[in-house]
Amino acid sequence: MNIIYEKLRIGIDEVLLDIQGAAYRLSGGKLGKSMFTESLDIKKVGTDVRIIREDEDSVTIAKFDESGKIVNKGFRIISTSDLHFGDDPVLRDKCMGMLMRQIADTKPDLVVLTGDVILGRFQHIDAIQFARFMEKIGVYWAFVFGNHEAREEKGRFKELLMKCQTNFPHCLARQGKKELFGLCNYCINILGSENKILKTLFMLDSGRDILDEYREEHGCPKEYDSYDYIKYNQMNWYENKLKMLEKQYGEVKSFMYMHIPIKEYELAVEKDENGNFMFSGKCEIIHGAVREGVGSSRHNTGLFALIKKLGSTQAMFCGHDHMNDFCVRHDGVYLVYNQTGGYETYTTGDNLGVPEKDWPQGVTVTDIAPDGEVKISQRFNSMYL
Ligand SMILES: [Fe+2]
Repeated sequence: MNIIYEKLRIGIDEVLLDIQGAAYRLSGGKLGKSMFTESLDIKKVGTDVRIIREDEDSVTIAKFDESGKIVNKGFRIISTSDLHFGDDPVLRDKCMGMLMRQIADTKPDLVVLTGDVILGRFQHIDAIQFARFMEKIGVYWAFVFGNHEAREEKGRFKELLMKCQTNFPHCLARQGKKELFGLCNYCINILGSENKILKTLFMLDSGRDILDEYREEHGCPKEYDSYDYIKYNQMNWYENKLKMLEKQYGEVKSFMYMHIPIKEYELAVEKDENGNFMFSGKCEIIHGAVREGVGSSRHNTGLFALIKKLGSTQAMFCGHDHMNDFCVRHDGVYLVYNQTGGYETYTTGDNLGVPEKDWPQGVTVTDIAPDGEVKISQRFNSMYL
């Protein structure tokens, strides 16, 4: 991307945001509300995580003690998905306020968002605003794109949306290698010591809808018209990256984050005689509920089979299907829906048919013990009502 254009666009958006902020403050909250959130009293949480090194498709981090040494005290990730910032500033405030409280109370080492975060008319401005929000909280965060952010699969728009956020120091997302499908194919290596990985997080762009240009290479039938699938070049990158890390650090255990669930999630779900979705009984249920069908691609490129072959990835986290928030174990791998976080989606009000105290918005908490053991649990926003 032309660097002058990029800097100019982001600069203009930052200025627009500042003007909105000033208007909001000077008018006592009457003006500037359409694209600005400042009713929140953002409290700094801070972190003892530091970036050790980074390159185009990976960031290596660890927790440090006061003497500047890497410590292995375990690691907490909270993940959420589908915040769906649209054009309702009240609901956006509510969403960010809830996330802020979750972060303040859980004190995570990392926050991960699995896509469909920013959808409104002023997408780039919202992206900068969200990055500033996380910067004030002072906790590291990362994201992958969802189908709603992929207006172009790898166009200037999406690239700029990425830059609006990766420019900020606490954002660990990276664009990844240019030759791969999509953006944000990268990994985060969490070290437990100088030469041992506690966990690697592989982040993948799961695209939007099936595109004709990729059908032949991936053997995807013409009649398949659905959400997208993970491409072979992304799978090759995952395999090669993992092998490289194993060469350097020995055994590497990992998680994987993407927006659209892979087909294997469907194994957990079936319909009862009335057409309602329910658990199939084919997977071990860890937590959560199934309330809708799995919106995976009709085409399966075999990512799960590759995960099994490589034996590193212990859990996959996705978003996309806002009403599902289950975690199941299939063939030794956790298949997790991150709690949805958005209030501008169909997971609200009459759509769910239950009172707000039973809505699924919240965060998924993943605790990694110093020995690498994993515990995944749910935390609902309804506790703050
Ligand atoms: Fe979504």
